[in-house]
Amino acid sequence: ASRKLLLLAGDGIGPEAMAEVKKLIAMMNAEMAAGFETEEGLVGGCAYDAHGKAISEEDMAKAMAADAVLFGAVGGPKWDGVPYEVRPEAGLLRLRKDMELFANLRPAICYPALASSSSLKPEVVEGLDILIVRELTGGVYFGEPKEIIDLGNGQKRGIDTQVYDTFEIERIAGVAFELARTRQNKVCSMEKRNVMKSGVLWNEVVTQTHKAKYPDVELSHMLADAGGMQLVRWPKQFDVIVTDNLFGDMLSDVAAMLTGSLGMLPSASLGAPDPKTGSRKALYEPVHGSAPDIAGQGIANPIAMIASFAMCLRYSFNMVAEADRLEKAIADVLDSGLRTGDIMSPGATQVNTQQMGDAIVEKFRAL
Ligand code: NAI
Ligand code: MG
Repeated sequence: ASRKLLLLAGDGIGPEAMAEVKKLIAMMNAEMAAGFETEEGLVGGCAYDAHGKAISEEDMAKAMAADAVLFGAVGGPKWDGVPYEVRPEAGLLRLRKDMELFANLRPAICYPALASSSSLKPEVVEGLDILIVRELTGGVYFGEPKEIIDLGNGQKRGIDTQVYDTFEIERIAGVAFELARTRQNKVCSMEKRNVMKSGVLWNEVVTQTHKAKYPDVELSHMLADAGGMQLVRWPKQFDVIVTDNLFGDMLSDVAAMLTGSLGMLPSASLGAPDPKTGSRKALYEPVHGSAPDIAGQGIANPIAMIASFAMCLRYSFNMVAEADRLEKAIADVLDSGLRTGDIMSPGATQVNTQQMGDAIVEKFRAL
């Protein structure tokens, strides 16, 4: 099978982390006949430097044609002054919009070797494996009206509007239920139906979708603020959490910190399945940014990027065994005591980006 990947490494540590994924791709092509066909493009500040836009039309077309996009990170102080429409983040927003990536998947996994470095007690996070499914293209970040009105008496009014239509809730709920079936078969939906009309609708539509199509999955509902509390109190009660754009933004950052460093966290953003082929557009990226403070030093943690590639294997190419093996390779390398600077702990062995990448490739090959 041919598997078309577009690599958009971006700025700062993006290319350094992507280099380690390229090693994995080359090895899988050479030794496992994986058949990845890769193309590369520019996004973010480097794209602006090359042609004045955060992503070119040519690279957008490549993204639309690819089976999956691997994205590094964009931005940095160098581009602080560029016009708003072409700022580095605009490249990522354009990709999300044109590819209609409405489902953002953020796993929070606690690797056993790192349980003691969590901000919570080890017993609370040890073995943690939850998945937050955040709606990404609707809600208060996009709803209209969205403006600042001058009230004329020295006062201004800032307005954002939370809007959700039935189809938007149905499709994100569908993703959550489908994913739950491949995991522990449990979904918790979070909204604030006590104070928001969109929350009432969210609750209704999730409940109906469950009843109509996924009655085999265990469904619960929680108010989003209580959900935040429960995430910190006893996160292992959850399997899949499904929530809107705003609550998902915050809850996924809370969940992220249960497990340690930004350098460890992968994500996936998925579009709707093509009615003919069943395949979805998808973009995989680490949660972290371009880390200008450490860029160019070769010391960034490549695990978030590598774990994003593992998600790509799982969700875009149905290479479940390979994805499991790659995640196990990451866990084993951490068990063996190797650490990049950001996750360094007493008694561990500090390594650089390339050494961490090489160790994971070797472990993956050996498993
Ligand atoms: P950041 O995630 O780049 O860095 C925050 C802190 O975490 C820094 O101290 C950094 O050194 C550390 N860190 C992040 N990833 C790491 C890794 N893989 N290994 C080791 N340490 C790591 O966030 P920050 O500093 O707020 O933003 C820096 C730039 O990145 C800004 O221009 C921002 O706009 C951009 N950004 C881009 C994102 C994206 O491309 N999706 C997401 C977040 C920020
Ligand atoms: Mg956020």
